[in-house]
Amino acid sequence: MRDAPIRPMHEDDVPAVMAVETSAYYSPWSAAIFRDCLRVGYSCWVLERGGDIFGYGVLSSAVGEAHLLNLCVAPAHQGKGLGRRLLTHFIDVARGHKAEAMFLEVRPSNHAAIALYESIGFNQVGARRDYYPAPKGREDALIFALAL
Ligand SMILES: CC(C)(COP(=O)(O)OP(=O)(O)OC[C@H]1O[C@@H](n2cnc3c(N)ncnc32)[C@H](O)[C@@H]1OP(=O)(O)O)[C@@H](O)C(=O)NCCC(=O)NCCS
Repeated sequence: MRDAPIRPMHEDDVPAVMAVETSAYYSPWSAAIFRDCLRVGYSCWVLERGGDIFGYGVLSSAVGEAHLLNLCVAPAHQGKGLGRRLLTHFIDVARGHKAEAMFLEVRPSNHAAIALYESIGFNQVGARRDYYPAPKGREDALIFALAL
């Protein structure tokens, strides 16, 4: 599983992706959002072996900027280096799209994700107030950026 290939996501993958999404996030995306991302041509990839999806992500790229819209590893497989592999892959994809910077948003409470992003070289460049639904009201989003 650790060396499972990263390949493009297809519409047929959406149910398996949704199973991971709903197990990993407090406020998961819907299947319709993933289908829309595929339809509009965002860069959607899965980490898959033997029909099992261990992780995935979604990147949009436009006018020199790339936005990582989702990055997720199945809870049972977190902490094994898969998130780092996926993020490195998306940085390569963004460079391939000639993006000069990559942006993403993260909850301040998501210490694992923030540690991953900072270890790669992302820096916080801003915040959006009350951006995410949270168990007690709303939670801010921190905006992180990486110069490519
Ligand atoms: C965030 C996420 C993608 C990380 O993926 P992962 O496969 O668990 O992470 P990795 O094993 O590749 O670890 C990479 C780095 O993340 C950090 N990290 C991972 N788990 C951590 C934890 N429990 N606590 C603190 N830091 C952690 C470390 O810096 C780690 O580097 P190291 O192994 O050299 O110490 C994963 O936890 C996840 O999918 N979470 C749920 C969805 C989510 O929150 N996505 C991000 C939205 S912004």
